[in-house]
Amino acid sequence: MDWGVKNRLARIFKPDTGKTVMLAVDHGYFLGPTSGLEVPSKTIKPLLPYANSLMLTRGVLRTSVPADFDIPIVLRVSGGTSILSKDLSNEGITTSIREAIRLNVCAIALSIFVGSEHERESLLNLAELINQAEEFGIPVLTVTAVGREMTRDAKYLSLCCRIAAEMGAHFVKTYYCEDFEKVVETCPVPVVIAGGKKIPEKNALQLAHNAISHGAAGVDMGRNIFQSDNPVGMIQAVKAIVHKRISVEEAYKMYEGSKKT
Ligand code: R5P
Repeated sequence: MDWGVKNRLARIFKPDTGKTVMLAVDHGYFLGPTSGLEVPSKTIKPLLPYANSLMLTRGVLRTSVPADFDIPIVLRVSGGTSILSKDLSNEGITTSIREAIRLNVCAIALSIFVGSEHERESLLNLAELINQAEEFGIPVLTVTAVGREMTRDAKYLSLCCRIAAEMGAHFVKTYYCEDFEKVVETCPVPVVIAGGKKIPEKNALQLAHNAISHGAAGVDMGRNIFQSDNPVGMIQAVKAIVHKRISVEEAYKMYEGSKKT
């Protein structure tokens, strides 16, 4: 693997554990001012010291993240639809590779829509993005979007992750599911999980624990952190699960305990 790709990946995946806690704050690219992310700078600022990486769009990066804060950026470069669109799978590439380099990012991210109407376009967009990114040593994260009518099971998610890896993605983001180890085993690149919709804190910690226990290389979590009543406590607890392999009980105590400080 190219030195630049390895170096950028080593900034996202901490070399001492090989794992990562990415903070996903890219939701506005199709959801607009999502609950908890209405003013991105306010949400992001207190969490910055704890995240191993930030996943976001260039607009939020430029306006809401201090340029002198040392944190690896994973830049979302796909979009073109909104929550009002009839078909969310109709995404294109929104940000050029030159812009990603100018912004000094560590990776770029694009969603694929396997089984959806625009499956082919999204996969060809991924191929094109990887071809461009390879020239400059920029890793590509593929996000496996799941259409409303699809089941988040190991069979479907393995299909999505494996296709992304076959196309040349350097790491993949998907959902945790039953038999998750099958998704990880059949995907030759690291798999990180999205958190999904907000659930009770203990359940979100259990989700992170399950994912790590079954082979995930980390989490790329958004709503279950920034929509929590204690976002800083949550990210600290998730980080301890991912990097220190503490139990869910211990992590929950950490989250609760930090409310009092
Ligand atoms: C969705 O396409 C976005 O990439 C989000 O960043 C992703 O869903 C992760 O955020 P959450 O943990 O809120 O699901």
